[in-house]
Amino acid sequence: MARFIDELKRTHDCGALRAADIGSEVVLFGWVANRRDHGHLVFVDLRDREGLTQIVFDLDSSAEAHRVADSLRPEWVVGVRGKVRSRGEQFSKKENKMVSAANPNLATGEIEVEVLESTVFNKSETPPFPLEDNIDTREEVRLQYRYLDLRRAPLQAALRQRHNINQATRNYLSSQGFLELETPFLVKYTPGGARNFLVPSRVQNGKFFALAESPQLFKQLFMVAGFEKYFQIVRCFRDEDLRLDRQPEFTQIDIEASFVNQDDIFSHVEGLICAVWQAALGIDLEQQYPGGKFPRMRFDDSMRDYGNDKPDLRFGMKHVDLTALVVEHDGGNIPFWTPIAEKFKAGTYRTDLPAEIVKALVIPASAGLSRSDGDKLEQIARGMGAAGLARAKVGEAGEWTQSPLAKTVSDAMRVAINQAVGAQAGDVILFQFGKASLVHTVLANLRVHLGKQLGLIPQVGHGNAFQFLWVVDPPLFEYDEDRKGWVAAHHAFTRPHDEHVELIETDPGRVLCYRYDLVLNGFEIAGGSIRLHDPEVQERVFNALGIDKEEAQQKFGFLLSALKFGAPPHGGIAVGMDRLAMLLAGRESLRDVIAFPKTQRGSDQMSDAPNLVAPEQLVELGIRVVAKSE
Ligand code: AMO
Repeated sequence: MARFIDELKRTHDCGALRAADIGSEVVLFGWVANRRDHGHLVFVDLRDREGLTQIVFDLDSSAEAHRVADSLRPEWVVGVRGKVRSRGEQFSKKENKMVSAANPNLATGEIEVEVLESTVFNKSETPPFPLEDNIDTREEVRLQYRYLDLRRAPLQAALRQRHNINQATRNYLSSQGFLELETPFLVKYTPGGARNFLVPSRVQNGKFFALAESPQLFKQLFMVAGFEKYFQIVRCFRDEDLRLDRQPEFTQIDIEASFVNQDDIFSHVEGLICAVWQAALGIDLEQQYPGGKFPRMRFDDSMRDYGNDKPDLRFGMKHVDLTALVVEHDGGNIPFWTPIAEKFKAGTYRTDLPAEIVKALVIPASAGLSRSDGDKLEQIARGMGAAGLARAKVGEAGEWTQSPLAKTVSDAMRVAINQAVGAQAGDVILFQFGKASLVHTVLANLRVHLGKQLGLIPQVGHGNAFQFLWVVDPPLFEYDEDRKGWVAAHHAFTRPHDEHVELIETDPGRVLCYRYDLVLNGFEIAGGSIRLHDPEVQERVFNALGIDKEEAQQKFGFLLSALKFGAPPHGGIAVGMDRLAMLLAGRESLRDVIAFPKTQRGSDQMSDAPNLVAPEQLVELGIRVVAKSE
C-alpha cells in the first residue's frame, strides 16, 4: 500500500494555508513550479489549481526528504507531509536589517511548509515553454502542448470563469422555471444559415447527417410540445471561416419560451447577464443599469450612427450621414457626389438596390492626426475594399485644407458639412461615399480603429467598462444581388411586425421584424427572435423568398407540420457563451477561453485533426474523395 494517497490524504490545497494554520501538520500534492537550492535548504513552490505554497526541504528536519529535493525538477508531481511554519525573517541588504520574509503578493505568502516526508509521484520532461503567466511562446506551440498551456494561471482562471458562468446560468434559469433539455447533434441538413458540417451515415450509405449549427428547430418543437421554458448550454457546429471571435464548435446558452414577447425575452436575458456578472466578476450591473435594463437602439439608427449593428458604445465618434445634405446641394460641386445626388433626385433608387450614400467621421484636433497618419488610415480603408479615404482638415475660418475636395467644393456645401459634423478648427473630416454597405463597413471599422488609436478604448479588453445594448427592429428580408431576389436576413421563421405584414408582397425591404441582438462593447453576444407561429403569414414569407410549398415542405417539413398542431406563440435567443467568457476575461480571442480550441485554419494542433482516414473506412461509408479543383 502506498503511503501517500492511500494513507496520507491531502489535507489542504496549495492556495489554502494561512498564518492561522501555523503549527499544524499538513499533506499537500502538486507540481513543482520552481526550485531554489540553498544547499542546506531547498525551497520549492508547489502548485496546484488553487495556488502556490512554498515548501522547504531542510536537511536538519529530514535528510531523506532533502535527498528527494535534490532531484526535483519543474513539473514533477510530488506529495509532501510537513509542518506549517511562519516564513520568519530574513536580512534585507537594502534596509540593512532583518525584515519579514512574508510574500504579500501570494495568498499563502505568510507561511511555508517544512517537509518531514515526501514522495515523487511522477517525473516530467522539461516543458517546451515556461509555464508562467506572461510568455511570448508562439500560439501554435502552446496549442500543440495545450495540456501544459492549461496549467498556466491565465488559462486556469479562464476555465474556472466558464465554470462560474455555467453555474450561474443553470442556477438563474432554473430559478426562473426554465428546464434544461437536450437536443440532437446529428440532424437533418437544412439549407440557409451557417454552413454545416456533414456526417456520413454508414447504415444508410450515401446519406448524410448535418451537425447542428444550433438547436433552433428543436427548441421550437419543445414549445410545440408544451415545455414552455427551455434552456441548454449547448455545443454548436459551424463550418465557417474563422476569426478571433469565431470557432467551428462553440457553446451557446440557448433559450426558448412560450407566450412571450420581445420584452419578456429581454428581461430573462438581462436577469441572466446580471447574475453572470455578479458570479463571475462580483459586479452589480444594476448600479450602471437601473432595474437591470439595458438600453435599446433601432437597427437603422445603429447603421446610421455606427455603420453596423454591433456598436461599441464605450466611446462616441458617431458617423454623420451627409447624404441628404449632398442631395440638397446637388453634390456641392464635388464630382463624385453629383451623380449620387442626381440619382436620388431622379428617384431611381429602389429599396431592393443598395443605395449610394455619403458619410463622414470627425477626428478631433486634439488627436493631432498627421498627414502620414491619414495616409495610414487610407491604407486600412483600401484594405477593406474602399477606393480611397477622402479627408479635409478644417481651418480657423472653416476652410478645408490638405484635401482634393477643397479645390471644388462649393462654399455652401462646405459650410453645411462643417456644421453638420460640428467641425472645429484643426479637426480632420474623413469621408466615405458609394455603396451603402461598403461605406458603413469601412467607417465602422475605422471608428473602432481610431477609438483604440486615440486611447478612447483599450487595444484589448473591457477596461472595466461594460456597455450593453439591444439592437432591435431590423428588416426581415435582405436583397441578394447574386440571386436577384429576397433572402431572409436571419431565418425564415422570424415574426414580422404586425403592421408590416401587408408589405410582405408589396415592399418586402420595408418589413421590420422581431429580431434582436445583444451587443457588448462592440461584440454581438446574443441573438434571437420572436418566431412566426402563424402558418398563413409563414406561407406569405416563403412566397416572398421564392420558396414554394413543395420546397418548404421538403426543407422544413417537420417544423411546418408541427406548427399546424397548436403551436403557442414563442420566441427565444442564444447567448454566445464563449464570447461572454472572452469579454469577461478581457481577452481578444476565443482561443484564450476555450480549453481545446481550433486554430485559425480550423484544425486541432494537438491531435492533428482533421486527418486522412483509411481507404477501407471510406469504402464502408460509400465515399470517394476527389481532388478539389481550385
Ligand atoms: P446566432 O447565429 O445569432 O443565433 O448565434 C447566437 C450567438 O452565438 C454566438 N456565435 C458564435 N460564437 C463563436 N463562434 C461562432 N462561430 C459563433 N457563431 C455564433 C454569437 C451569437 O450572437 N438559433 C439562433 C438563436 C435564436 O434565434 O434563438 C442562433 O444560433 O454570440
